Amino acid sequence: MYDMEFIKLPYINSTNTYAKDNAKSFSKEITLIQSEVQSHGRGRLDRAFISDNSQGAWFSVAIKPEKGIITPEMVLLMPVMAASATALTIETVYGIRPGIKWPNDILINSKKACGILCESRIIHNDVYLVVIGIGINLNQKKMHPDIADIATSLLIETGTEVPIDLIIQNICGNVAFFYDKIKHGETACIIDKWNEYSLMNNAVITYTKEQLSYTAISKGINTDGRLIIEQDGKIIYLDSSEVRLKIQGV
Ligand code: BTN
Repeated sequence: MYDMEFIKLPYINSTNTYAKDNAKSFSKEITLIQSEVQSHGRGRLDRAFISDNSQGAWFSVAIKPEKGIITPEMVLLMPVMAASATALTIETVYGIRPGIKWPNDILINSKKACGILCESRIIHNDVYLVVIGIGINLNQKKMHPDIADIATSLLIETGTEVPIDLIIQNICGNVAFFYDKIKHGETACIIDKWNEYSLMNNAVITYTKEQLSYTAISKGINTDGRLIIEQDGKIIYLDSSEVRLKIQGV
């Protein structure tokens, strides 16, 4: 098991920002930063992530790999493994089956319960830092009105209130396990786990790229974490940094 450092904060703007700003002082390969409340939780595509309450798990796993062990290409698998690790924990703890919406949302009954934001610092082709930020709505009885129609919490969906620390510990165990697999080049089990929970198998999707909208059929992900889609008879690979996406009927 990994020897991790654990930093627990009562309040911070964003645990991802904290991890990036303080990475220099982290002495372990893996550091977990959790905050009870975030004032400026961040999501993908510069969106805000509501986490100004203490009912969710708001945390970042900061990985400083040993030099040369993780290549920049392997970093693309980090959000994939984080989503697999989180989905696995949700199913293990709550006994319900979540669905992964590419690239990094976890849905329960078609509503978002968790978002993942991965950021990295690569210096001269060397991966210096990977920050995996995970936000899960756990014990909210009601969602913030701004997101109530698209987001949910585990308590709302299952009626079960679970201690936040227990969920974070379980996810970190899974992340450490999968990270070890990535280090040893054993990536197939991570993609397989992702596909097990995926909502993207032959789903009709619409996506927006450079302000244009397209409809396609999603086929799953490749070993880089890119979404494989079939559009107008052609196979295309989508990069998560460039698209917004909807699954029809979800
Ligand atoms: C998304 O929905 O686009 C991703 C949301 C990621 C939220 C988590 S909460 C912990 C960490 N700190 C942040 O500011 N963001 C991530």
